[in-house]
Amino acid sequence: MKDKSRGEIICELAKKKITGKTLCHIGCGTGEITKEFSKLAKKIIAIEIEEDKAKDAKKLNYACETEIVYGDAYEYLKNLNTKPDTFYFWAGFRPKVGGMQWWLESVIKLFGEFAPDVMFGISLSKHNGHYVDGIPLQLNSAKIIQKIYGGNILSGEYLEGGELVPFGLFRINLKDIKINEKMSVSKSWKLSYKTVQEYIESSPTANFQKYYTDRLGQKNEL
Ligand SMILES: C[S@@+](CC[C@H](N)C(=O)[O-])C[C@H]1O[C@@H](n2cnc3c(N)ncnc32)[C@H](O)[C@@H]1O
Repeated sequence: MKDKSRGEIICELAKKKITGKTLCHIGCGTGEITKEFSKLAKKIIAIEIEEDKAKDAKKLNYACETEIVYGDAYEYLKNLNTKPDTFYFWAGFRPKVGGMQWWLESVIKLFGEFAPDVMFGISLSKHNGHYVDGIPLQLNSAKIIQKIYGGNILSGEYLEGGELVPFGLFRINLKDIKINEKMSVSKSWKLSYKTVQEYIESSPTANFQKYYTDRLGQKNEL
């Protein structure tokens, strides 16, 4: 496992959920991870909200049928005719809008009846602000989601800039979902999508995700 890229590690951890499947990559960035997925998947729909990144992603060659979409994934998914087998997103740690829990609940809302697999990347890097006071924020968030809904947390390591970087994957199949009512305290259901949309319209810039989650977090006292 030791000399692999992040994309290769995700493919290794989730091989069965990607191979021969229709995969929806929410937030595909510049497409490198999508490219790795395309070596196994049957078809990919990859959506990116930052225009420059989406443009770069469109320039890459993919090994399977791949559609790169520039836009907000939630808006796009609301009208999607295909039913993806698997969703992947490396989302933020916040439990509310734009974070892992919100995305999981959005996929449940939109595609729950088709029971897709949902997977989230978890940064375990000690750099880049993913740890605060020794606490891995995304891992913590995944553990909270796991208490509410179930699912598995897997881990691996990838090589970046000559360094081994730990990375995790939170995986859940929506047919196995168990809702622990006492733990299910998410306010996200109460936030209207309009709030998110308003923010998206006002700040379509770089560093989008951080601003997006921070601003929405502040606005909603999260
Ligand atoms: C942490 S990056 C991950 C990029 C890539 N998947 C990877 O693993 O390298 C998250 C990406 O999601 C995008 N994003 C955030 N919210 C989004 C939304 N609502 N719709 C589409 N893309 C979104 C961000 O612009 C960013 O490129």
